Amino acid sequence: MRITMVGTGYVGLVTGTCLANTGNDVTCLDVNQAKIDKLNNGISPIYEPGLDEMIRRNAAAGRLTFTCDAASAYQSAEVIFICVGTPSDERGHADLKYVLAAAADIGKAIEATPGATGGGQAERRAKIVVVKSTVPVGTNPKVQSAIAEHTAKTFYMASNPEFLKEGAAINDFNKPDRVVIGVNDKGTGDRMRDLYEPFVRQGNPIFIMDISSAEMVKYASNAMLATKISFINEIANLCESYGADIDEVRRGMCSDRRIGNQFLYPGLGYGGSCFPKDVLACISMGELCDTPATLLEAVHLVNQRQRDAFMAKIDKHFDDNAGLSGKKIAVWGIAFKPGTDDVREAPSITLIQHLLDRGAQIIAYDPVAEETCRQVLADTISYAKDTQSALAGADALVICTDWDEFKFPDFDQAKAAMKSPVIFDGRNLYRPEMMREHGFVYHSVGRHPVVPETVQQSG
Ligand SMILES: NC(=O)c1ccc[n+]([C@@H]2O[C@H](COP(=O)([O-])OP(=O)(O)OC[C@H]3O[C@@H](n4cnc5c(N)ncnc54)[C@H](O)[C@@H]3O)[C@@H](O)[C@H]2O)c1
Repeated sequence: MRITMVGTGYVGLVTGTCLANTGNDVTCLDVNQAKIDKLNNGISPIYEPGLDEMIRRNAAAGRLTFTCDAASAYQSAEVIFICVGTPSDERGHADLKYVLAAAADIGKAIEATPGATGGGQAERRAKIVVVKSTVPVGTNPKVQSAIAEHTAKTFYMASNPEFLKEGAAINDFNKPDRVVIGVNDKGTGDRMRDLYEPFVRQGNPIFIMDISSAEMVKYASNAMLATKISFINEIANLCESYGADIDEVRRGMCSDRRIGNQFLYPGLGYGGSCFPKDVLACISMGELCDTPATLLEAVHLVNQRQRDAFMAKIDKHFDDNAGLSGKKIAVWGIAFKPGTDDVREAPSITLIQHLLDRGAQIIAYDPVAEETCRQVLADTISYAKDTQSALAGADALVICTDWDEFKFPDFDQAKAAMKSPVIFDGRNLYRPEMMREHGFVYHSVGRHPVVPETVQQSG
């Protein structure tokens, strides 16, 4: 099929590349000329494991092209996937301005497409416009109207929410747990099913349903995952208050097969470009129809408090009143999770900004997110080239992302490099007993703090 992906972000670029990889003729369209220039030079503007090679291979085969020319990209397509951002607006609602702007351009292009006059053969071949961006229930008809304002010709609508995870996006798209497709008519459902068949050859389901339900599946899924994270963080906080250990509690609780262990890791709370905005969008959907999403309001609140509680631990250690002037804090991990360079809504950014406000000097290390971090924090912090050099002369280490390379550092070397052996671990990477043996002051989430006797005595 001839496909146009609108937006070459984490979703559009990965999805477009994977669809090209199954033999489709894919054009990736973006308004950002710098991104398109990079892609035309064989460089991915985002970090996603395995993506560069796949882009180069499919571009070389002539199945994958990149452009800013909206009119021709839309006119040539049989299927158009809208994959632009839907960030929160100032009230927490999903901001649809990028989706609706794309829809207006699509309408103009459909109008200008020769041969697509509506009726008969042309109608059967009419374009399908697929909303892949995460959007509130009821958005599809708005997109349809925004297109129809510019054309009376026939086109079909579909909703196809995306479930890929940054860091594992290619595998997730190629081997989805399920594909969800919302349509108004059987013909569109059949054409969409054909497109996805190559990805579900192992028997995973393609669910074809009505459009409103498809839109809701995405929000319900992300809201559920966010709820699990806030739930375990709340239990971790109770563990801290009552002297229980969240690791033991997790083991005991998660061995119940009805509960399972996924997305039940305590930490700094969820971040990234999806969970925070999608939880807020669900809350605002509830407000708009007078059906308060009370549970999700609490999920959001718990998540905000999780960062505050962790910052309070750092403040307390350094004496709340004295501030952090003259203190050098090393930060390991900036990306909101391992495997990506995405720092949108990353807990690290909130934490770093707090530490900067209190006068600390920050030296941060992340294996891939330095460039994206610079776009947010510029040169207010310094960047180290590896884990160990970040630690030189540090008064404390703060761990924000559970990258594999942080999991087994040389603790003796780390201790020797630091001014004081203090670690605030927002990802519970180490066993507290091991940190005691190595002589670190060690604060994590939902577990007993470690303050070795040698450190207590020396004050
Ligand atoms: N990032 C994820 O892991 C993920 C997973 C599932 C779903 N989603 C959803 O998918 C959507 C896209 O997310 P993302 O992370 O890929 O966004 P992104 O911000 O990385 O990319 C969006 C891209 O769209 C481009 N764009 C904006 N308006 C355009 C237009 N009119 N024409 C062409 N290009 C345009 C931007 O320049 C940008 O490159 C969001 O709704 C998000 O919630 C994201």
